[in-house]
Amino acid sequence: MTHSAGSPAPPILVVEDVHKSFGGVRAVAGASFALQRGAITALIGPNGAGKTTLFDLITGFAAPDAGAIRFEGKPIEGLPPHSVTRRGLVRTFQLTRVFAAMTVLDNMMLAGRGQPGEGLLQLIARRTAGQRVEGEVRERALAALHRFDLDGKAGDYAGTLSGGQRKLLELARALMTDPTLVLLDEPMAGVNRVLGSRLLDDVEELRRTAGMTFLFVEHDMDIVMRRADHVIVMAEGAVIAEGSPDAIRADPRVIDAYLGQARSRT
Ligand SMILES: Nc1ncnc2c1ncn2[C@@H]1O[C@H](COP(=O)(O)OP(=O)(O)OP(=O)(O)O)[C@@H](O)[C@H]1O
Ligand SMILES: [Mg+2]
Repeated sequence: MTHSAGSPAPPILVVEDVHKSFGGVRAVAGASFALQRGAITALIGPNGAGKTTLFDLITGFAAPDAGAIRFEGKPIEGLPPHSVTRRGLVRTFQLTRVFAAMTVLDNMMLAGRGQPGEGLLQLIARRTAGQRVEGEVRERALAALHRFDLDGKAGDYAGTLSGGQRKLLELARALMTDPTLVLLDEPMAGVNRVLGSRLLDDVEELRRTAGMTFLFVEHDMDIVMRRADHVIVMAEGAVIAEGSPDAIRADPRVIDAYLGQARSRT
């Protein structure tokens, strides 16, 4: 995490004054932050703060109305999702998006062919041409499924998985693309405690061994305190504070943001 004063590592992701409105709703209203390479950063904030919308903007599922997003120093705002994925930036969804009518293994293999966004016909053509590659991808897919205890489900339709298992499948599938930056939108929601804790152990291991960078949205502050190196706090579409978990826990602006929400609900 710490770098000598003379050689600060450039941030892997920079978000600069990004805006996005839906009709009259200002979902993201001037959000700015930079993401430290190789760190596990938590993104927190009350419901409706704009966290998921920000993920959509970063990963190409929506285009910002204004502002800049740079990944590895290059602008990516407005690029389609498959272009963003190809550069090494992937995300998982708060509400999972697995292909329910495909098997778990096929979901994985579709992601692992290194051609996100590829059409079905090209896929079929490649399937006949590349049996060897196919075998390799299958091996990697099965190993990744094993990591998340899903290897027993490889032949089942993804639609038959529980909500928690779908979350795990999404993460496993994201890892098939060999990303350098992974955005996780509430990865623990609906996942049982044992698997959830293993999922975060895996995240830590991937950071350590593969140097991956992670940004995850999480509402459970105990998990944030234990697992994050750095915390970014959003409220009403903007970043209102960031710092170490300890500093954030004690920050009155953060306490206000959450209390303000509690008050407006009563
Ligand atoms: N497609 C959309 N159309 C209209 N309003 C939207 C849309 N997407 C998000 N919003 C609104 O934008 C605001 C931010 O929503 P967003 O889902 O980004 O918040 P969040 O921080 O992820 O919340 P949560 O913690 O509940 O997941 C909310 O007021 C939401 O209702
Ligand atoms: Mg959300």
